[in-house]
Amino acid sequence: MTASANEPQHRFLRACRRLPVDRIPVWMMRQAGRYQPSYRAIRQQVGFLDLCRSPELIAKVTASPIDEFGFDAAILFSDILIHLPAMGLDLSFEKGEKGKGDGGPKIANPVRTRGDVDALRIPDPARDLPYVADGIRAIQRALAGRVPLIGFVGGPFTVASYAVEGGSQGFTRLKTMLYAEPASAHALFEKLTRAAIVQLQAQVEAGAQAVQIFESWLGELGREDLEEFAFPYLARIAEAVRPMGVPAIFFSTGTSTHLPALARLGYDVLSIDWRIPLAEARAQAPAMAFQGNLDATLLLGPRDTLVRRVRALLEAGSRQPGYIFNLGHGITPQTPPENVRAAVEAVHAFPVPGA
Ligand code: CP3
Repeated sequence: MTASANEPQHRFLRACRRLPVDRIPVWMMRQAGRYQPSYRAIRQQVGFLDLCRSPELIAKVTASPIDEFGFDAAILFSDILIHLPAMGLDLSFEKGEKGKGDGGPKIANPVRTRGDVDALRIPDPARDLPYVADGIRAIQRALAGRVPLIGFVGGPFTVASYAVEGGSQGFTRLKTMLYAEPASAHALFEKLTRAAIVQLQAQVEAGAQAVQIFESWLGELGREDLEEFAFPYLARIAEAVRPMGVPAIFFSTGTSTHLPALARLGYDVLSIDWRIPLAEARAQAPAMAFQGNLDATLLLGPRDTLVRRVRALLEAGSRQPGYIFNLGHGITPQTPPENVRAAVEAVHAFPVPGA
């Protein structure tokens, strides 16, 4: 393949820019996590937040799925809520004991009033989150140029849902805030947007080569509320990333009824869920690169069904440049690692037309 000097060389970055690729690039959301025996072994020794705060362990955990499965991109091991303590919120992760919660986030002092919003501080990544930049530099040493590294933050609506509800407890309090106290909601989204931008800046400066915005729960909002409370902030984040010179991926679920609007936000790649066929998504947003959208449940097996569905997705995806194989949402902890390996192998075995 011929490439000009300023074109990215790696197939993941090429696909983000809708350039031709030799093979379809593949990575999976939550590719570092509890489905891996190596991750569970580390978690026997150290709590989740302590893991996120250790540059050495971040590097080890981030690189392990590259070593084990041959993914085409690594994603920083961290969390979309990692900055909330620096903003003034008392964050912890419950132990995932049987019958006692799922190991989910808990915020002891959730944001409920305008005063709570006004008290939130914008984090200073260098002072408050030094382990993220140190972790990125350690990851880059471990990867040694094999694959690009994706940095990430949560989208304002998704982070707000945890900050306001106090954990994974639905969306009623946050949505009520939109209607009852719109000015407080806007002030909250404004602060979370600024917090997202400074973190992305620090991650790219430390060596992240692409970024993904995880706006996982955006499908909770209807069009009118998206336009008032979400799209302006998401567009500001995209605009802030552009001068950083790295591709920006926008991920959400339950939003396939809004693809033309999402395509106007200014991102390079839309990461879509399994609720819409890829070809239909492309037809609705022809200028975008796409990432997705295998139902993560297929990774539970049976293996032949999994491989058949992976190939069907590749048939659709490989018809034009600008496609990254991924799931519609994260890998579940019950996933057999052999199935992850089989899926990655099926992607890499698939011949790209014209390559
Ligand atoms: O491999 C990767 O994808 C990178 C690491 C990563 C984690 N969280 C590690 C993690 C990323 C990109 C995230 C993003 C994240 N965190 C999201 C958006 C993506 C999505 O799944 O929608 C959200 C909503 C969170 C908040 C969060 N963190 C929740 C709700 C939970 C508990 C429930 C769950 O899904 O596990 C976490 C914990 C968490 N974050 C774990 C991991 C590996 C499990 C913690 C453990 O080891 O016990």
